[in-house]
Amino acid sequence: MRLFATGRALRVNSARWSIASPRRSLIRIPLSHRPDALAVPRRALSSTAIRRTDEKATGANGTIINGQSYRKDEWTNTPETILSHVGRRLYLDENHPLAITRKLIESQFPTPIYGNYSEQNPVVSTELNFDVLGFPLDHPGRSRTDTYYINDKTVLRTHTSAHEQAYFQQMNRNEKTRPEEVGYTLVADVYRRDAIDRSHYPVFHQMEGARLWKRPETEPLKHSAETAAAIMKDVNSIPAHDVAVEDPNPTFHPERNPLQDGQHSVEETEAMAAHLKRSLEQMVIKIFTEASKAAASTAGAEPEPLKVRWVEAYFPWTSPSWELEVFWQGDWLEVLGCGIIRQNLLNNSDVPHRIGWAFGLGLERIAMLLFNIPDIRLFWSRDERFLSQFKAGQITRFEPFSKYPACYKDVAFWLPSASVSSGSAAGGAMPVHENDVMEIVREMAGNLVEDVQLIDEFTHPKTHRKSMCYRINYRSLERTLVNEEVNDLHEKVRGKLVDLLSVELR
Ligand code: PHE
Repeated sequence: MRLFATGRALRVNSARWSIASPRRSLIRIPLSHRPDALAVPRRALSSTAIRRTDEKATGANGTIINGQSYRKDEWTNTPETILSHVGRRLYLDENHPLAITRKLIESQFPTPIYGNYSEQNPVVSTELNFDVLGFPLDHPGRSRTDTYYINDKTVLRTHTSAHEQAYFQQMNRNEKTRPEEVGYTLVADVYRRDAIDRSHYPVFHQMEGARLWKRPETEPLKHSAETAAAIMKDVNSIPAHDVAVEDPNPTFHPERNPLQDGQHSVEETEAMAAHLKRSLEQMVIKIFTEASKAAASTAGAEPEPLKVRWVEAYFPWTSPSWELEVFWQGDWLEVLGCGIIRQNLLNNSDVPHRIGWAFGLGLERIAMLLFNIPDIRLFWSRDERFLSQFKAGQITRFEPFSKYPACYKDVAFWLPSASVSSGSAAGGAMPVHENDVMEIVREMAGNLVEDVQLIDEFTHPKTHRKSMCYRINYRSLERTLVNEEVNDLHEKVRGKLVDLLSVELR
């Protein structure tokens, strides 16, 4: 089962050497005010980010984000270093690689059929991020080790799908004024606690899109042949392409990838799937044709012929679901997740008489390929040597400026004994997770860390205590770090590991 397709591997059973400390159920990291610097006008911002309930705090103890104060509680785990990214809106800086990538994708979903939107406020309710989309209560995506909570009911969105309901509702509200707008794209910053390496950063960007069709209000299944025919007409207006597509599976499969029985007919599902596949193939082909042109222009070689393939997938709010992969420089690369939207979600979003599809993708991953950007931290750089290399509308290869020396340091420690448990972190006590180590490193050393790797792990045969050794690779993208500075940072990391995780340094 997949949790998220876009830019993150699923790690349900991965490095969770879960230890639940009996003394402390949550690692608390203080939050403080960070003003949001930018307010850039953008077409029809819908500001649908959060359903305002009782989340506003009145006292001085709230977390302030975008000028709003949110109450804190024992779920709060969002550090200031993360909040400082809110409001940067890199996708609006027209010469920034993320904005160039966004535009390229939006160009494949033009008006008036698709509205192209962005969502500024990353604070959303757990209801919109998870419940409305059908995430079960024990789903690992809800865990505090994976998600930044503002409080028990509020998170920094972990994906742009948190806005699906609001956009469907908006489509219904705009039915009279903008009847031709039956789809949308949406770009936004999303937040996930995760490993530290050159392709993972706790803040990244996603682009989501959806397309709906109306059905007759009474007995839609009786008229499903007409609905399907209308969708097929739209399919035939999407230009054909000549790229090789592997699609070995049936459109739906009763066990592995079911159609929504009783909700959608076979013809409707086939037609929507055809529209979704053709639209997304077209988009991906556009992107990767640009990427291979750019690659070939520097390498002086012929662009490689493109290959794409469809893989069955699972998302709680779509069925059937797929991922699209592209064969890129010798590997199959997962580019996006998508599927036929569950009718239940549409019924609950004021559009019960419509059916349709949705997709989501990670922008950094695509931009890294398009522009040959080797380290995800670079997207946040304010260094002119980075920023001056890109121009709106142009896909060019990044010329690395000198790489400053790396300096690695190891930290080895014993996990607290007698506290090994395998509890889920979705509620109740919070076990310590590898992501907690990552968070401490990020908190202490920020963007001066390139990656953190577990290099050794063993259990003592007699005491059964577990020892872990992590290698932290310090490197600045902008200057040479001096030894003292790195030693100092590393000491701070070691101290925090002891303070917050109760480990014993070795
Ligand atoms: N939100 C999913 C992710 O983060 C992608 C997705 C979007 C899947 C829409 C299906 C429909 O990977």
